[in-house]
Amino acid sequence: MAIAKPEMKPGEKKKIKTEEGEVLLIYLGGDKYIATEAKCPHLGCDLEKYGVLIREEIVCQCHFSHFSILDGKPIKGASKKSLKIFKVITDGNLLKITSS
Ligand code: FES
Repeated sequence: MAIAKPEMKPGEKKKIKTEEGEVLLIYLGGDKYIATEAKCPHLGCDLEKYGVLIREEIVCQCHFSHFSILDGKPIKGASKKSLKIFKVITDGNLLKITSS
């Protein structure tokens, strides 16, 4: 799916609705974004509120699960399930978000 590029500051997180459910978009600056499912796969905490990006990991602060932003695999912490990561491609004023 493609959406208009939202107004975001570097480091900001924002939930957007897609056909695949809610997606959490994290803006890294320039044309760089990360998109993941909006809820933690452990017990469903809202990652817009409880998720923190630390280097190449998203940490859910509910029970401190760490997920790789590269493939969503759990690195340490409570979750044994992977976090779904989407591919984000910028195209002018559009963001194309697809399952990776
Ligand atoms: S709900 Fe995210 S670590 Fe438990």
